Amino acid sequence: MADPLAAAEEARQNLSATLDPTRRSTLGQFFTPPATAQLMASMSTLLRKRVRLLDAGAGVGALTAAWVAEICSRPVRPKEVVLTAYELDETLLPALRRTLTACEQACAVVGITCKWEVRATDFIEAVVDTLDVGLFQTERSVFDVAILNPPYKKFRSESRTRQLLRRLNIETSNLYTAFLALVVLLLDESGELIAITPRSFCNGPYFRPFRQHLLQNVNLTRLHVFEARDHAFRDDEVLQENVILHAVKSLPQQPLVCVSQSRTPDDPINVQRNVPFERVVRPGDSQAFIHLVPDDDGHALAEAMETLPCTLDELGLCVSTGRVVDFRAKQWLRAEPTAGTVPLIYPTHFDSGLVRWPKADTKKPSAIVHNTDSAPLMVPAGVYVLVRRFSAKEERRRVVAAVFDLSSVPYEVVGFENHLNYFHERGAPLDRTLAWGLSAFLNCSPLDTYFRQFNGHTQVNATDLRSLRYPTRAVLTALGHRIQGILPAQDELDALVAEILKVR
Ligand SMILES: C[S@@+](CC[C@H](N)C(=O)[O-])C[C@H]1O[C@@H](n2cnc3c(N)ncnc32)[C@H](O)[C@@H]1O
Repeated sequence: MADPLAAAEEARQNLSATLDPTRRSTLGQFFTPPATAQLMASMSTLLRKRVRLLDAGAGVGALTAAWVAEICSRPVRPKEVVLTAYELDETLLPALRRTLTACEQACAVVGITCKWEVRATDFIEAVVDTLDVGLFQTERSVFDVAILNPPYKKFRSESRTRQLLRRLNIETSNLYTAFLALVVLLLDESGELIAITPRSFCNGPYFRPFRQHLLQNVNLTRLHVFEARDHAFRDDEVLQENVILHAVKSLPQQPLVCVSQSRTPDDPINVQRNVPFERVVRPGDSQAFIHLVPDDDGHALAEAMETLPCTLDELGLCVSTGRVVDFRAKQWLRAEPTAGTVPLIYPTHFDSGLVRWPKADTKKPSAIVHNTDSAPLMVPAGVYVLVRRFSAKEERRRVVAAVFDLSSVPYEVVGFENHLNYFHERGAPLDRTLAWGLSAFLNCSPLDTYFRQFNGHTQVNATDLRSLRYPTRAVLTALGHRIQGILPAQDELDALVAEILKVR
């Protein structure tokens, strides 16, 4: 019997070694391994006599193959399937056609009529053209099931893709969210979407319009996370947290969302629970962050963190991103501090919870010229809490904070580089004890674990830090007093924060 999955897998194996790396990167070509494709296909619940399936960015057809194999193995099957695969890269088309032929043969064996079509065209252009002229409800563009691993690639604000999407009021800057946004529009009422994507759309300000578009159009039914960041696309050396999303185009949103987790696609699902939708997307959250909390401990932690008394604004504090973008400020950067310069702080100056400046063994500039042109890039000298914007992939912690306190060095202003976020008192420096307490809170393990529930990548945005709740000033100051200028070891710090905050 024809095995569509085996056909797709053989093509994937052959291509992995031969595809041009530049083309791979331009077209976001990372092919889904069989275990992941099967897991995705197993999530399909739609039962119709005739199913029109869409695979957008089909590659060699791994996902369509897995879906067909799954459907053929079920006791209750559709009578007819119509498979539509969009793929832009012509070099993949022969293999894709072989996979679809294998799908047709596998269907024939179990008495399903299978029709298929390869659309060798740009998915975004084709769909925008169709939807923009109001051909939305035509037979050619409505699907019952969409299964996809869309290409991951950022595009610029002035790009043609961005302009095309704007014709449909879709605001997004990555191909993967563009694909998903369009697929959602192409689904028939009650049609289902199954997609594997990076987790980055779950938070981050740039993805907000996309999240809103998604939540306004579909019912989130299931979210599956892989604990090991590097596994879903192991063979392609992709290091990112991935999520499988299952959604149904019917509103209103149902009260429960199934959240599950496995270590890798080859491992069994180790946690699976139905989570109230309000725990996934908080009511009234203007950012519409999507929280992925698969276990009870995580749930209890989220409760504790979200019932802390203060927003950052209520504390009278702000967090901003460092204003010095070094490649744009090249003319003012200096390797060493000299007359007329002030300190320029990078993440490299972080050292066990403190900022140490200057640093001997760094390739980064140490100082920035202070003149009337560069002055807008500076902040008044004093005490601040800095948080790295990018954590190294292998780093244990996502949120890494340090106290900046160069009181002994006589400068009026300092520069914070753009890879840092800095907490301030509405433009002014912080009280020193408060700063130590805030830094202790940001560096504690429960906060880091909670942060990961909505942030699945290595970037810590100022928006993420603004979205957190904080202890009161009095509690932060009390914490600061206990620490007195030296960040304790992690266990000790966690015990201290637990004692004061009752957060474990
Ligand atoms: C991440 S790969 C996934 C391939 C396949 N779905 C799988 O799971 O193995 C994305 C695919 O989308 C294709 N692609 C990229 N941009 C496209 C576009 N604008 N229109 C159609 N296909 C595109 C790439 O060539 C690539 O094969």
